[in-house]
Amino acid sequence: MKLIVCKDYEEMSRKAAAMVVESISVAEEQLISFPGGETPLDMVKEFVEMVNAGTVDISRTRFVQLDEWVGLGDKDMGSCAQFIRINLLSNLKYPFLDFFLINGLADDIQKERVQLNEFIDRYGPLSLSVLGIGLNGHLGFNEDGVDFDSDAHIIPLSETTKQVMGKYFDRERTLEYGITQGIKQIMAAKKVILMASGEHKARILAKAFSGPVTNAVPASVLQRHDNCVVIADTDAAKEL
Ligand code: PGA
Repeated sequence: MKLIVCKDYEEMSRKAAAMVVESISVAEEQLISFPGGETPLDMVKEFVEMVNAGTVDISRTRFVQLDEWVGLGDKDMGSCAQFIRINLLSNLKYPFLDFFLINGLADDIQKERVQLNEFIDRYGPLSLSVLGIGLNGHLGFNEDGVDFDSDAHIIPLSETTKQVMGKYFDRERTLEYGITQGIKQIMAAKKVILMASGEHKARILAKAFSGPVTNAVPASVLQRHDNCVVIADTDAAKEL
């Protein structure tokens, strides 16, 4: 894993967006993935600005969402699909070639999972996977204990995730499961960018970056990826 330390959140966001743009080539069709959450917000805004300014052409790039809360749809505040719609898709002057948003409200969530796998199988592997890191080291909803050999799956939310999830919602939510791209799909990405910001991420980032590779800290699997860049602000990089 390569490490880039930035002085603050703004610089991290700008650099990450520039790296995303750099990795998008018009020469061939691509499939890219972004997470929802607090960490990628400004990176997404910077990315949109560059697309709209014509700095990058995304007409041959497809987008696929990383994960979603089972039970929330894109109209629900705090859903990852709403994050992607509001901050990314609806602000783009030039659209992606195609995109797949996960419907966490689907009547048949297993069918949704199958469709997510099919989209990635058809247009993948991912050219680029941008990720955040959870306080338990999760990537998407690949929670601690996850099988590293997994495609898209439905997984019980960890206690850590349940403790912090209130920050995303405007009201009390009782959610038990997530639907997520699997570690196998993330590891098959040609390039991975892991973003981390804030002192609260310092401990888990250090474990992921230099601790043992174990599914107790899912992000540690990225040590085995041969083209993974960790981009962190000084607070998150404190224990590295
Ligand atoms: P955050 O979430 O960006 O809101 O901190 C990261 C994650 O849980 O993956």
